[in-house]
Amino acid sequence: MAPLRVGLAGLGTVGGTVARLLLENAALFERRAGRRLDLTRVASRTPKPEVDLGSATFDTDLASLDTGDVDVVVELIGGETAARAVVATAIGGGRHVVTANKALLAAHGDEIFAAANRRGVSVGFEASVAGGIPIVNALRTGLAANRLDAIAGIVNGTSNYILTAMEEEGQDFAAALAEAQRLGYAEADPTFDVEGIDAAQKLAILAALAFDATIDFDGVHVEGISGIDIEDIRYARELGFSIKHLGLARLHDDGVEARVHPALVPESVLISKVSDVMNAVMAHGDAVGPTLYVGPGAGGMPTASAVVADLVELARGTLPVPRAAKRRLPGLGIGGVVCAHYLKIPAIDQPGVFAEVADVLSRHEVSIEAVIQRPQAIRTGDEPWVPIIIVTDEAPETVVRDCVAELANLGGVTGEIARIRVADLSAMMPPS
Ligand code: HSE
Repeated sequence: MAPLRVGLAGLGTVGGTVARLLLENAALFERRAGRRLDLTRVASRTPKPEVDLGSATFDTDLASLDTGDVDVVVELIGGETAARAVVATAIGGGRHVVTANKALLAAHGDEIFAAANRRGVSVGFEASVAGGIPIVNALRTGLAANRLDAIAGIVNGTSNYILTAMEEEGQDFAAALAEAQRLGYAEADPTFDVEGIDAAQKLAILAALAFDATIDFDGVHVEGISGIDIEDIRYARELGFSIKHLGLARLHDDGVEARVHPALVPESVLISKVSDVMNAVMAHGDAVGPTLYVGPGAGGMPTASAVVADLVELARGTLPVPRAAKRRLPGLGIGGVVCAHYLKIPAIDQPGVFAEVADVLSRHEVSIEAVIQRPQAIRTGDEPWVPIIIVTDEAPETVVRDCVAELANLGGVTGEIARIRVADLSAMMPPS
């Protein structure tokens, strides 16, 4: 069979690694795919003479991939504008596309899939979610027999790396982020990682696949990890939890609940042990029940592994052409969520303050599950104060929000109250 001719757009961490894999493992891919994967062209606005491109032609003009000797364009430039143009041009020219670009798919997936459907070309995007975990393939193929109703997990490697470094090494946030950047995990703009945007994009892609629908990215509730204090991590641990950055999506009769935020995960749940750059995705199906997938979520090699897997599938003829428009499911927001909460309330160290705090919770019918207040945690200030740590029982999001607003107005409360949700994932996965 004729080789599959690959045009590569972008020579960053992932692009350079894809080129290397294609050259180094060429014989293996030919055996697996039944035909050669030939890297014929590479385009990158920044030349990288140190990267071996074999016999591929190099150009700094991304439009150079729009040519007869390219069957598939691999888009690894990231961002939205230039990437969107590269993908549109490729599809318009009847070329298949493989991309790792979750931002592009979350914002313009509908347009891209519709165009590919009309043109009869395939779009591979395994690398866009959870790097080295073949979760797109699992949802699309392995779980095809299931009605999937929930998906959850850790889908940002950088945030998981930072939270792990804070928890296990007591490292501060900035140092851990700098190391994640050095290792090639972080986005070009790392606020996408630490403010939850990257995870929300990935969750929207996974939910769309799992629920067979178009999911509005703006309907995903987004919170990142930048507000997490090392003290919260320590108290959580004392209470039997790890703090993880989670994405959760559930299918309801009237739409999709989709949210990313930090959460206390009970140590009895396996994903509380998923650390460093590792990602984990749980999917729940009516036939199979709970399933869990774990693997490296970022970095050159894991992401390149997913990109090349799509190329091998394409070469075999099994990478599908996207289907025509899917049903659109509205986002339900976070108002309807019911869960337990961790609260850290800075309070003046004097009689009656705890009683006032308990009274507010009691009037809102929020029950207390656990409390910590340590004499050694008392801090001096104008008046001595101490953090009161409370874990509530399950309560509606809106009620807990009202409670926190009321608590903040108490005379005995001296500063900002930290509120972190507790994730109940027990229905989605077996305990460890
Ligand atoms: N910045 C992303 C992460 C890279 O940290 O997970 C993979 O998408």
